[in-house]
Amino acid sequence: MIKTEEQYKVIGKVKGIIANLIIGYVKDGHVSQNEICYIGLGEQRLLGEVIKVQGEEIFIQCFESTRGLRIDDKIYFTGSMLEVTLGPGLLSKIYDGLQNDLNKMTTLFLNRGEQSPSLEMDSIWKFHPTAKIGDKVEAGSWLGYVNENAMKHQIMVPFTLEGSWKVERIVTQDNYTLKDTIATLTNDNGDKHNITMVQRWPIKMAIRKYKEKIRPFAMLETGVRCIDVLNPLVEGGTGFIPGPFGTGKTVLQHAISKQASADVIIFAACGERANEIVEVFTEFPKLDDPHTGRKLMERTIIIANTSNMPVAAREASVYTAMTIAEYFRQMGLKVLLLADSTSRWAQALREISNRLEELPGPDAFPMDLSAVIASFYARAGYVHLNNGETGSITFLGTVSPSGGNLKEPVTEATKKTARCFYALSQKRADQKRYPAVDPVDSYSKYLEYPEVKKYLADNISTSWSEMVNQARNALKRGQEVRDQINILGDDGVPIEYHIEYWKAELIDFIILQQDAFDDIDAMTPIKRQKFMFEYILNIYEKDFEFDHYEEISGYFKRIINKLRQLNYSEFESNEFDTRLKEANDIIAEKRN
Ligand SMILES: Nc1ncnc2c1ncn2[C@@H]1O[C@H](COP(=O)(O)OP(=O)(O)OP(=O)(O)O)[C@@H](O)[C@H]1O
Ligand SMILES: [Mg+2]
Repeated sequence: MIKTEEQYKVIGKVKGIIANLIIGYVKDGHVSQNEICYIGLGEQRLLGEVIKVQGEEIFIQCFESTRGLRIDDKIYFTGSMLEVTLGPGLLSKIYDGLQNDLNKMTTLFLNRGEQSPSLEMDSIWKFHPTAKIGDKVEAGSWLGYVNENAMKHQIMVPFTLEGSWKVERIVTQDNYTLKDTIATLTNDNGDKHNITMVQRWPIKMAIRKYKEKIRPFAMLETGVRCIDVLNPLVEGGTGFIPGPFGTGKTVLQHAISKQASADVIIFAACGERANEIVEVFTEFPKLDDPHTGRKLMERTIIIANTSNMPVAAREASVYTAMTIAEYFRQMGLKVLLLADSTSRWAQALREISNRLEELPGPDAFPMDLSAVIASFYARAGYVHLNNGETGSITFLGTVSPSGGNLKEPVTEATKKTARCFYALSQKRADQKRYPAVDPVDSYSKYLEYPEVKKYLADNISTSWSEMVNQARNALKRGQEVRDQINILGDDGVPIEYHIEYWKAELIDFIILQQDAFDDIDAMTPIKRQKFMFEYILNIYEKDFEFDHYEEISGYFKRIINKLRQLNYSEFESNEFDTRLKEANDIIAEKRN
């Protein structure tokens, strides 16, 4: 909504325009860093964010094309930072980085100067009060809930309210719109505050209305075996997936988002190409939710941006996604936040910093790149809320290192911060060993946490951590013997080397490789993962007897083929049992 001039406290003027960077000046009044402003183009006003203040000179990053803007055009400063609107109706939305509802658009992209409301303010929700008159509350306290899809959407005291408050009035269970007051709070100073079901929060600030953030301990099942088995992700943990162009970053993230055991999935798609985003738009709404039998989109929110959107909107999108994730964490939910790719975000930071002519760091990225990335990742985590409930944000970002160089600044900076590292290898992608996560280079630091080890022992198997180590060593050994065989020739090494090599291949083909496009293989619940992992390690421990190395590859390929068919069969079905028996028969042939 365009306000009249008098409604703005501070008005400035345009002094210079360099692409999306506007240099303005302000004679009277204060302008602060990250403040939002509108830049006049007659009726159309462009949205911008203050990125630097230097005396009377204000540097503004415009979120839209500045074509046609002129010197001396007016700049209206709002006094507030870039905010998101939080409330019922967020689920299933597809937003851009500035929280415009893209489904409301006639075209995929917004026209200049256009904004689309984030939530339907007239929509009707049945509010169930849980707080009572006289209750003591503070920012983040739950007042009641509405049912949104399969979830309880908690209505909370606005995070911006300071100090302690008392519920003076709360409505009865009934239907209300987002505009209606559902409660009135008072404090000791006699201040009164009317609460609706909607609140706003600045995206660059973390929502911290919880008691404490603790070290993550519970595994987050992703259904992707090479992650769950070898390098598990945890609830409230962080990880990243670096991979050269086309090695499967997006497919892997989509696979995780489809199956992960999370209550809410937020997907920040900062794609390179518009068609990648269109895929997200068209594919996601069709997907079924394996956990609820409903549509996956019912618990998903997508924040989409492509490189043809202005750089500042791309920079904002990851923060918008994180803030929405924090909002749901405050409701005691398990949130999975995915960003693909964070390199586009870092490039946006680079463009902004370069336009400001800041002293550049490596590869012209801003000097504080590591700090920016670290403080973003730090917003994830597992928290104890003030009401005794818990909530988490697990964050997984992809990085696209140019030329596959893992020494480039974004990868290096992310590696310092993220606790899980899922390196996609070009070689594995070329061999079609998908997902191309390198089993030796990748890691999950959570495996070293005693609380995670205990969780795995209590919830999966007492010997799980040892089994993981055993598999890692086997895979490493497999690579070593393969190198030896390559150097010395097939008959230049002991026969055991060939057996070790093929045993590692067995782990690779049956556990690590997984077809993201097959309904059954794509999704492996932890019970099935445990069964298969124990089964494969059992084979690994067996001694096999061969007269000649030439027998070995053919023999193991037969087992691998059988077990791959098994991976495509429904767990514990007749077909599954038959394949298993057939595999056992082959194994019995050469057992010592
Ligand atoms: N798990 C998988 N199973 C089967 N095929 C896969 C798998 N992962 C990736 N692929 C194949 O690799 C192709 C490229 O994957 P994807 O688009 O995810 O790569 P990317 O790393 O995101 O690429 P970009 O750098 O362009 O974003 C897919 O189209 C698919 O054919
Ligand atoms: Mg991709």
